Amino acid sequence: MVLTSHKIVITIDGPAGSGKSTVGKILAEKLNLEHLSSGKLYRTIAYLKERFGLEEAIKLLDKIEIKNGEIFFEAENIDDKISSEEIGKIASDISKIRSVRDKVNEIQKKLAKESKKGIVVDGRDEGTQVFPEAPVKIFLTASPEERAKRKFEDLKKKGKIKGTKLELENLIEEIRKRDEQDKTREISPLEVPDDAFYIDSTSKSIDEVIELIMNFIKTQKPEIWHFLNEDLK
Ligand code: DC
Repeated sequence: MVLTSHKIVITIDGPAGSGKSTVGKILAEKLNLEHLSSGKLYRTIAYLKERFGLEEAIKLLDKIEIKNGEIFFEAENIDDKISSEEIGKIASDISKIRSVRDKVNEIQKKLAKESKKGIVVDGRDEGTQVFPEAPVKIFLTASPEERAKRKFEDLKKKGKIKGTKLELENLIEEIRKRDEQDKTREISPLEVPDDAFYIDSTSKSIDEVIELIMNFIKTQKPEIWHFLNEDLK
């Protein structure tokens, strides 16, 4: 069994809005593992860069706290602040910088090592670059229209947009632009790992996706399933 420091690492890669964070969180709860959305670390640097400049922001990443996958800076939960599309765009811009990626990867590896039993980590290059040795790799995607529609419904529910056709069209455009930027950058672009389980969730519910992944681990990775099952709830 290939494990990182005897910890199980499950990677979920995919484009913006594919549902990887939601799936990652539920999967981690079900399997009794910890969960991290690596995009949050890029978003945190983006947020801190606006206040302190990039160099300082990279250093400050050592000072954040991560509790239940939520990010705290100077004892303040900044999850809401870093979740905007504007911060997402800056995160995508700065994620092309080597020193940014190195710091984010260092923190992720530390978290995996310090986790009790292992971690479910989602992002763009988890299975290809950060944890190439992970025993379970998932690639989750959906059409740009579907991903924009999900984001649209979410923002509407939170009262952050009115819910017009134009807003939906703008979201589709933003998603396409970010896909292009994340796929074509030189360092660590968004790619499907060779050995990943590929899921197109366009017409699937979250529950169906979770079921597919659980079934994949059970049937294709029985030794991992056994290890995880030892203390499953
Ligand atoms: O998943 P997200 O939308 O929160 O990620 C925000 C940005 O961070 C994304 O556009 C690109 C970058 N990112 C990355 O380069 N590598 C990762 N593993 C995760 C995110």
